[in-house]
Amino acid sequence: MVKDNFELNPYEVSGKIDYDKIVSEFGLKILNNDILQRLKEKTGELHPFLRRKIFFAHRDLDKLLDRIEKGERFFLYTGCGPSGPIHLGHIATWRFTKWLQEKFDVELWFQFTDDEKFLFKDKSFEEIKNWTYQNMLDVAALGFDPKKTHFIIDSVHAGILYPEALKVAKKITFSTIKASFGFTNSNNIGSIFYTAMQTVPVFLPNVLNGKKELCLIPLGIDQDPHFRISRDIVEKLGFEKPIVIHSKMMSPINGPEGKMSSSDPNKAILLTDDEKTVRKKINKYAFSGGRDTLEDHRKFGGNPDIDVSYLWLQYFEEDDSVLENIYNDYKSGKLLSGELKSILINKINDFLKKHQEKRRLIEKNDLLKEFIFEKKC
Ligand code: TRP
Repeated sequence: MVKDNFELNPYEVSGKIDYDKIVSEFGLKILNNDILQRLKEKTGELHPFLRRKIFFAHRDLDKLLDRIEKGERFFLYTGCGPSGPIHLGHIATWRFTKWLQEKFDVELWFQFTDDEKFLFKDKSFEEIKNWTYQNMLDVAALGFDPKKTHFIIDSVHAGILYPEALKVAKKITFSTIKASFGFTNSNNIGSIFYTAMQTVPVFLPNVLNGKKELCLIPLGIDQDPHFRISRDIVEKLGFEKPIVIHSKMMSPINGPEGKMSSSDPNKAILLTDDEKTVRKKINKYAFSGGRDTLEDHRKFGGNPDIDVSYLWLQYFEEDDSVLENIYNDYKSGKLLSGELKSILINKINDFLKKHQEKRRLIEKNDLLKEFIFEKKC
């Protein structure tokens, strides 16, 4: 845990995150040009999130690249904690994961942690079950390959997960959990066990298939503490440490601190929002780096580096040169805050329109079952 003016762990993200500090305290490596170049040799191009340093750090990616060069295969693992509607902050990791799946043509194991959300949130199991279903629709609609994607739901696939989680749990002490997550004696006992469940997919495919493939985990950096624990113990169980690739947290709508959250639905863009709602939320709440008056803005220019509309556009405008022009025009005062917001609104609405149509078709044609791992338990 990093103590400062900010907090960053799986259960709390607040304040202005100092990513340099995190990298040194967590012991991560930066995705520097050398490693990005090596990756590019294999993928042909770099995803915009890599070019823009949204994915910016890693653990052992060099080792994965060595092994890929030897002709070895790997699998992807990421997840979703189903406690509410999916918002734009969740999907950056998953869009990037989809790109990795396409580029490397690999299997993806996608964990839905209904147990975690039941234990940590003040919600009934019924509510969490409903969010699990709703969230699975959104994840599936992002376009993963159903033949190569396996959704696992902790409570549903418990028969497969639990024996492995036990082996993990036996290697973790309560003091490690307290130090990693800031828990106290008043945390419920389920929450103390939970990280064992999140470790299991790191090696589960190898258990099921009898292979020895490396695991690559794309994640939001707040999830790293779980896998620091995993990396310490899976070798004791006869598996290799997972490779991790980390993204920064997408800024909330009201300013570049903390992370986006759906607990206040006005402050996050949900994947189910319609065009009017998106327009209204961004116009009303998106933190602006513009000047107070039109005159000042034209004269002194705006500050794109703290402007949420600009920061978000990095996730939705694929073309680097278009983005660069917007940056420069905003900084020089040529582009106004309202104009920048409307560029963003149109981009998000285009994205959501397609997404919502795919989601509708998946639900209507009952296609989720193609994604859910067939339980043999
Ligand atoms: N704990 C994560 C959440 O609350 C969900 C999750 C499970 C996850 N397994 C993961 C996230 C692996 C990233 C990678 O959202």
